[in-house]
Amino acid sequence: MHIKKAILTGGGRATRLHPITTTINKHVLPLANKPMIFHAIEKAVKAGIKEIFINTNPGETELQQYIGDGGHWGIDITFFEQTGGPQGIAHVVKEAEKFIGHDPFMFYLSDNILLGGLNELFDEFSAGKYDCMLALSEVNDPERFGVPVFDTQHNLIDVLEKPQNPPNNFAVTGIYLYGPRVFFEAFDHIEKSTRGEYEISSIHSYLLKTGKKVGAKEITGWWKDTGKIEDLLIANRLLLEKMDTADFPNHGIVEEGARIHGNVHIGLGSRIAGDVTLNGPLIIGENCIMKQCTVGPCVAIGSGCEVIGAHVEDSIILDNTEINADLFIRNSILGKNVKIIKKSSTEGRSIIVGDKSVIEL
Ligand code: G1P
Repeated sequence: MHIKKAILTGGGRATRLHPITTTINKHVLPLANKPMIFHAIEKAVKAGIKEIFINTNPGETELQQYIGDGGHWGIDITFFEQTGGPQGIAHVVKEAEKFIGHDPFMFYLSDNILLGGLNELFDEFSAGKYDCMLALSEVNDPERFGVPVFDTQHNLIDVLEKPQNPPNNFAVTGIYLYGPRVFFEAFDHIEKSTRGEYEISSIHSYLLKTGKKVGAKEITGWWKDTGKIEDLLIANRLLLEKMDTADFPNHGIVEEGARIHGNVHIGLGSRIAGDVTLNGPLIIGENCIMKQCTVGPCVAIGSGCEVIGAHVEDSIILDNTEINADLFIRNSILGKNVKIIKKSSTEGRSIIVGDKSVIEL
């Protein structure tokens, strides 16, 4: 039973990623200069998915513009608007019932970033004729996640959502496989949790308690739920480190004297002055200007940016942002159209900073 359909999340408020997500849907935040949700789509496509259904917040248009109809990946992508406000991630799946019908499917939380593939998970699901398959990953803070419960013979017997005293260090990741109809049958029997949401863990708990065949398999390679700002930076760094040298072409203009070390991608129309040092892995988008600066490693810079006089490491910089100051910037995320400009302090500093911004000087 090969799975060809997938539901991906594209909605939610992402308050833990404020202020970056006050003006941008978190699913299009770039990691290694690629919108977060593209990483999820690509994993799904590699696993053989042909149709993807993505939920959106009411009135959303940005996501659709970024993603298109799936033709780019040779698949079909359909968007559906969530009704009745956010009611938990199990409710997202319920809302997609008409698209899934009687087919098996994958549900994938698009803020989950993994380095490995999904083929082993899919193969085991099919070979073992499972009703549901959960992907696990070992973490230091299981209390932030769904956690599997095993009996003494290591059989999966329950899943607890964000338990205060987790029985082990495994997280149930946001990648789930289901056989025909099992999810929807379970949904009719679960209730909202105390936080007012239909929890995905309640579905799995119900399936286990009613004798369905639920498997759990540890995911190979690194996995992260990018729910916090620091997770975005870690994901950006690991994705950059894992990319092949062929993914770092130079389409820009590099002036004589510039020093380039390691894998550095320079986008079309970007200009690197002779007094610049670039340390890979590093991606610089199109039409950027770099002068008197040291950039990288592990930096992803969008298009239309300028970096003059600064030293930047381990950071994500979105489109059209300008840094013109003698500053060492590390572990930072700068949104679109940000300006960090040094002026003489005798004039007094004029600083216009949006809500919830963090500036450490
Ligand atoms: C959700 C699920 C949780 C799962 C996690 C994985 O939590 O409820 O069971 O472990 O995704 O990313 P959330 O990130 O919505 O708090």
